Amino acid sequence: METKFVTITKAEPQSPGIREAARIIQNGGLTAFPTETVYGLGGNALDADASRKIYKAKGRPSDNPLIVHIADFEELPALVSEIPDAARVLMRLYWPGPMTLIFRKTERVPSGTTGGLDTVAVRMPSHPVARALIRAAQVPIAAPSANLSGRPSPTKASHVWEDMKGRIDLILDGGEVGIGLESTIVDVTGPVPALLRPGYISEQMLQEALGRITVDAASIGPVSAGLRPKAPGMKYRHYAPEAPLTLVRGEPARVEKAICFHVKEALLAGEDVGVLCALESLPLYRGRLGADCSSCPQLREMSCECRGTEKKGDGRLVLAAAGARQRPEEIAHNLYDVLRFFDSVRVGRIFSECFEDGELAGAVMNRLEKAAGYHRMDV
Ligand code: TXA
Ligand code: MG
Repeated sequence: METKFVTITKAEPQSPGIREAARIIQNGGLTAFPTETVYGLGGNALDADASRKIYKAKGRPSDNPLIVHIADFEELPALVSEIPDAARVLMRLYWPGPMTLIFRKTERVPSGTTGGLDTVAVRMPSHPVARALIRAAQVPIAAPSANLSGRPSPTKASHVWEDMKGRIDLILDGGEVGIGLESTIVDVTGPVPALLRPGYISEQMLQEALGRITVDAASIGPVSAGLRPKAPGMKYRHYAPEAPLTLVRGEPARVEKAICFHVKEALLAGEDVGVLCALESLPLYRGRLGADCSSCPQLREMSCECRGTEKKGDGRLVLAAAGARQRPEEIAHNLYDVLRFFDSVRVGRIFSECFEDGELAGAVMNRLEKAAGYHRMDV
């Protein structure tokens, strides 16, 4: 299959690129599009065949349900059999926006879209391209993140192209996404709303809005025997770079020491190693690990984009900063791009600092822990 790549400059339902994408969706095909969280891989949510194509294109197990995206509140009653009070409160506060709610579904939603569940995940994105596309298609759009199953979610159209070229009909390029982490998921079907996946809308924000929420233990920790996550997708190793990733947690000085020790050891053994760190720590690693950055202009600029690859010992050292520690939104925005960067330069293993200050940092750590398969060194 040939995949078209269309850059959107004007996000209106009548713009040619949006109309073409909408036609593809109406005809049962697949289109990737930007949302404010990550890029989605969209098909007609009411067409079980389209959902089957989505699972196939992603290489995703079909028991892992899709999120249904709508543009207007009027679309909701056809999809859900009940709108609990908690949902009304959250929708008023955070829709359109980076929040997905789990409802009981109606007959209209095929079980092929919901992984066989009798509930459905619904989200109303705020991104103008996503909204224009849903309106032009005139159907709700089922969309998981537009990555191959297991890989980091795409935050740029080029990431989607890497994973999906030849597998889907069209990619709408609407530039880099804003947030960079997938939506917060809240299950409102039970007596107490449950947080199934943390995101930009934090546990604290939900607590403030609702008074009481529970947190699905399996969404925030390793899935142990007997503990089944309520969001089926949370049971898989996820968001992961190809190289094994180890998180190092503790006092900053000890973390830096431990990372340097393990990196040196790996370099001497001839391995190519990546270090994911906060912007502020870059000079320290450069100094301690003896990275000679004269050949790397990006690294000298010290922006949050800064990355470098250097020869050191027998192995190669790759340093990448996701952003400033005091700006977790910057780290969230860059995280998947940096993980994909490590894949592109083919390091053999990665060590990462932890980012634990503030609410959004909690969501960042949730994704990093999953990407690491919960492999963490406490120092
Ligand atoms: O920000 C996002 O949510 C992005 C953009 C494209 O909207 N989408 C996204 O979709 O992250 P995906 O498929 O990568 O993740 C959806 C998660 C999975 O963990 C899935 O198991 C869970 O939502 N989910 C979907 N339907 C569910 C349901 N009925 N009950 C419980 N969990 C559900
Ligand atoms: Mg995903």
